[in-house]
Amino acid sequence: MDKSFLIPEIIRLKQEKNAVILAHYYQNEEIQEIADFIGDSLELSKKAQNTNADIIVFAGVHFMAETAKILNPDKKVILPDLNAGCSLADGCDPKDFKIFKEKYPDHVVVTYINCSAEIKAMSDLVCTSSNAKKIINSIPSDKEIIFAPDKNLGNYLQKQTQRELVLWDGSCVVHEAFSMEKLIEIYNKNPTAKIAAHPESESHILKAAHYIGSTSGIINFIKTDPAAVYIVATEAGILHELSKAVPDKTLIPAPSTEDNSCACSECAFMKVNTLEKLYWCLKNESPEIIVNESLRMEALKPIQRMLELS
Ligand code: 13P
Ligand code: SF4
Repeated sequence: MDKSFLIPEIIRLKQEKNAVILAHYYQNEEIQEIADFIGDSLELSKKAQNTNADIIVFAGVHFMAETAKILNPDKKVILPDLNAGCSLADGCDPKDFKIFKEKYPDHVVVTYINCSAEIKAMSDLVCTSSNAKKIINSIPSDKEIIFAPDKNLGNYLQKQTQRELVLWDGSCVVHEAFSMEKLIEIYNKNPTAKIAAHPESESHILKAAHYIGSTSGIINFIKTDPAAVYIVATEAGILHELSKAVPDKTLIPAPSTEDNSCACSECAFMKVNTLEKLYWCLKNESPEIIVNESLRMEALKPIQRMLELS
């Protein structure tokens, strides 16, 4: 379908239905351009919590839309494609996690927001990459902690907080795919460049980084830092917002080990959403995110604790 039809129709439907489009920075450019708000996971959760819209179109992945529904049971939350999963969320099965958790009955359970409602419901606290350190530091030092599902973020947090965390063995397929060899090659060609990395990346990448933070954190760092060249180790969708914010700076996506067409890292889950699917989803108000009420109530508690601490 032609964009000249889709864009005005999406805008019209949005007004007619009092809908809001929330998009993550990893969405494709066309979706970012039509969104009412673009943000990182924490900002999107806060927006979802405070919106006056009747319908939330969540242009992101399933766990994000599900979090919006948990926070807004009375609103209709729709996702352009229900197949927009996440390797972290999909790699943490509730049955397996229950068994894992039972091995550490006295531990406080902190989970990264990239997990299902079932996992959130088994947690004491939820965090995102932008508040994880604060959340861990809020836990009394005599308490032991389980951190799931991202072992790379968990390893980073252990170093940052000097706390020992029991880690679930999960990872993000996108951030785990950065090639150190190719990164060194690019850096040697651009020795004045600064490296900005997302904490879902592996420890050797984080060790080389000048800045580590969430997607919004990386954008703010590059906006305010005086360097002229940056190597950006996160999903390539972030470059759209960044190139608008800092048109005079050179932005180089950190290379992935995969030999793909863009030679950079793209989240295939995020990219299943398209402008056309967004149009149909808004028109048909489907696919809709449904969360069983008793599960929702349990999953809400650790999210609310996080929002109170953020
Ligand atoms: P943030 O937007 O919170 O940095 O998270 C990145 C991510 O991988 C989302 O899935
Ligand atoms: Fe999940 Fe990684 Fe994609 Fe984020 S980038 S949605 S963590 S697979």
